[in-house]
This record gives sequence, structure tokens and C-alpha cells, in this order.
Amino acid sequence: MHLKVTKYRGICFKDFCKLWTPPYLPKYLILSPFTICMKLDFPRYTERLGAVSIHAVQRIYELDSGKSKGFQSSHQTVRKFDYDEISNILHDLAIVIPIKNEKLKLLEGVLSGIPNECLVIIVSNSSRGPVDRFAMEGETVRQLGRFMDKRMIIVHQQDAGLADVFKKAGYDSILDADGSIRSGKAEGMIIGLLAAKMYHKDYVGFIDSDNYVPGAVNEYVKIFAAGFGMSTTPYCNVRVSWVFKPKVKNNSLQFSKWGRVSEITNKNLNSLLATITGFETDIIKTGNAGEHALSMPLAECLHFTSGYSIETREFIDIFEKFGGLVPSEYPQIIEKGVEVFQIETRNPHFHEDKGMAHLNEMIEASLATIFGSKICPQDLKETLSDQLKHVTKKRTDYGKKYLILEPINTIHMPEFEKGIREKVSTFLRIGRLK
Ligand code: GDD
Ligand code: MG
Repeated sequence: MHLKVTKYRGICFKDFCKLWTPPYLPKYLILSPFTICMKLDFPRYTERLGAVSIHAVQRIYELDSGKSKGFQSSHQTVRKFDYDEISNILHDLAIVIPIKNEKLKLLEGVLSGIPNECLVIIVSNSSRGPVDRFAMEGETVRQLGRFMDKRMIIVHQQDAGLADVFKKAGYDSILDADGSIRSGKAEGMIIGLLAAKMYHKDYVGFIDSDNYVPGAVNEYVKIFAAGFGMSTTPYCNVRVSWVFKPKVKNNSLQFSKWGRVSEITNKNLNSLLATITGFETDIIKTGNAGEHALSMPLAECLHFTSGYSIETREFIDIFEKFGGLVPSEYPQIIEKGVEVFQIETRNPHFHEDKGMAHLNEMIEASLATIFGSKICPQDLKETLSDQLKHVTKKRTDYGKKYLILEPINTIHMPEFEKGIREKVSTFLRIGRLK
């Protein structure tokens, strides 16, 4: 039996080992520093834009490479993470799960895939009537929480008290004309981000609630931790690249690699880079990665955009703020640099199929986000405009459709936190959480 050592504030794993080495420990409690959790590429190639480093897709060699006495902390091409290194990061990581009317069985599977160290934050925009799906989610989470002994939060996006807290904090960009919180995945993610900040988390990962495979969810979280573990700066974005997104065609599974949306988004983001640098590139493979993570110091200064445009916007915002093309308000970040990791899963991605209209909505959101960027050159704007005409015939003011959400660092946290605890009746905490 091995004692699993997690981070104690202020005492790192190595020091802990020095303190507790045999003969002081009974034999059955001998520490196991040799358990290796994940083995993956170091970045093989990197494109640089100003202070931003975008690493090419990295492969995982082993999800669990077992125990090995010959374990060395570094190797020329392959980075190995031992369990404790990953676990230490997981303690500082919150996983935000946006949910809107998904099957409870899927949510349950997702929760079971998230390592116990993480704080789980579920932000629901599910219907409250005629059937109160949010209440059902709350009950499911509460019941599972008892058995999992996991720290979890669940909150409803349309809670009037929550809207009031945002109003008081002066964070109007999340509110609609009536003063309610807008619907949208991005809006849910911002709420999750703020909850993570309340609990002083250093990292936040986002995982959709409609994932069919709990093992894949577990892999995403470890990928996030491995990315943060490899980062050389506090400003880091880790994006999941799916090895396959299988679809059923003619009664058999087709292991397609790219969905239509990601193909279009990646092509245009790469064109944006190419027009800026003068060199063609295909480095970006994760323009729409719903499963991704941000370090809090980076997340809190980004401008996001509403709905499904958020993942593309993160790339655009990082390029605008730190790409060196326009003056930056964040010289301290420019000095340290921003790193974007793209890590390919071993598990294929199975999720709910929501139909063509939904996919078109996402293509529109992504193209409009690139089109709206202040660093998008005129000739790319023209091709984006042509592509947008193929997606929708309607003339649309995209600036009004995909609204900008202000950085969350504009919010005074102590006041916000007090408001959440006092006014938000749907803010449920499960499992030893204050
Ligand atoms: N809180 C909240 N509020 N959650 C929402 C909302 C909302 O208004 N709308 C959707 N969600 C939840 C869904 O329940 C799901 O868990 C997750 O957000 C993603 O929404 P889907 O509707 O399932 O999106 P998708 O699967 O088509 O697209 C996903 O993958 C894309 C990449 O392939 C999303 O994550 C996209 O953002 C991503 O680009
Ligand atoms: Mg989905």
C-alpha cells in the first residue's frame, strides 16, 4: 500500500519525503515517489507572435506509464509527470462545467471523471419549469457528493440574486437590457471563473457536461495539469485537441479527426497569423476547443465574448493584448510571456449531437469573432465576410450579436463574494466547502 501524498500548503513533496522517510514510517506506509502519471511530448515546434508562444500539438505517449525506479524528471523529448506533481496542480485547479438541459446520466459520468482534488463548479442554465431540471441537477450532485466526498458548487445562471450581485459590482456586460444574466455558454463560464476566484484557485478548466466518456474527462483534467506543469510563465492557456470525434455513418463508427466547425475556425485563425507574420502556418488546431483551461492570472484580464464564440475569442484576445501589434496595457505579462499549449487526447470525444443549425451557429460565432478583431487585416475581413454570407443570408450586426464581456479583474472580489453568499439562493455548496 502506498501513501498518496498531496500538497500541504508550504511543504513541497520533496521536503515531505525528507521528513517522513523510513524507519520513521511503518513499512506499509512507504512513500512511492516513482508513480508516473502521464508521459507526453515536450513542445516540438512553437510559433511566436510578440509575447505569445503557440506550441504545436503535443502527443501523449502513455496515460499512465506506471512505476519505474529509473524515473528521471526530465528527458530530451518526453516530459513525464509523476502523480504527485499532477496532484499538486489539481489542488489548485477548479473545473467549471456549464450545463443546459443535459441528461443527468451524462453529468454524473462527467463528475465521476474529475479527480477528487479539483474543486468542481457547475453553472446551470437548465429550465426551472414546468419541470425544474435545475432542482434535479442539484439533487443528483448532492447525492453523488456524499459518496464521492468531492467539493462541488452548483449555481443557476438565471438566479435574480446573482444578477443583482453583478449589477452592484458594476459588471453590466453580462446582463441583458432587463438586468437579467444573458443565456449563453460563455456567460456560464464567466460565473464559474468568478466562483473559482472566490476560492483562490490558480487554474480553471472547462469541461462540457454532455461528454459521454468519463475516462476522457479524466484525461482532459490531467492534460490541463500537464500543460500548467510545463508552462514557464504564469500566463497559460491549455487547449485539448481531440484525437478523433467519432460519428455514426451508415450504421458504423467513423473516426473523423476534424469537425466542420473546427476545420473552418482553425483555417481562418491560421490565416490571421499568416497575414501578420508573412509565413503560412497550420499551427492552430484548437480554435473551438470547448475543453480548455486558463491560468487565473491570464483569465482575469481577458475580454471574452458571448455564447459559443468564447473559445475563438480567447485566441484573438491573447493575440490582441500580447501579440505586439497594438500597445498592451499589461507590460508585466508581456515581460513574462503567454504560452498556449495544444495537447492531443488518447480518448476519442463522444458528445451529444445537436444538429446542423447548431453547428452553423458556432461557425458564425467563430468567423464573426475573427472578423471583429482590431488586428484582422482588410483582405482577411473580405474572405471572412464571404464565408459568413454562406452561413447566413441575414444581414447581422455582429458587434451586437456577440457581445464583449469585460475582464473579471474589474470586479471587486470581497464585495462580490459577500453578495454571492448573502443573495444567491441557488449557490449550493457540497462537501466540506465553506
Ligand atoms: N451554463 C450554461 N449556459 N451552459 C450552457 C449554455 C448556457 O446558456 N448553453 C450550453 N451550455 C452547456 C451545454 O449543456 C454543454 O454542456 C456545453 O455548454 C457545450 O454546449 P453544447 O451545446 O453541447 O455545444 P457543442 O457540443 O455543440 O460545442 C462544444 O464544443 C465545441 C467544440 O467542438 C462547445 O464547448 C463549444 O463552445 C465548442 O466550440
Ligand atoms: Mg456538446
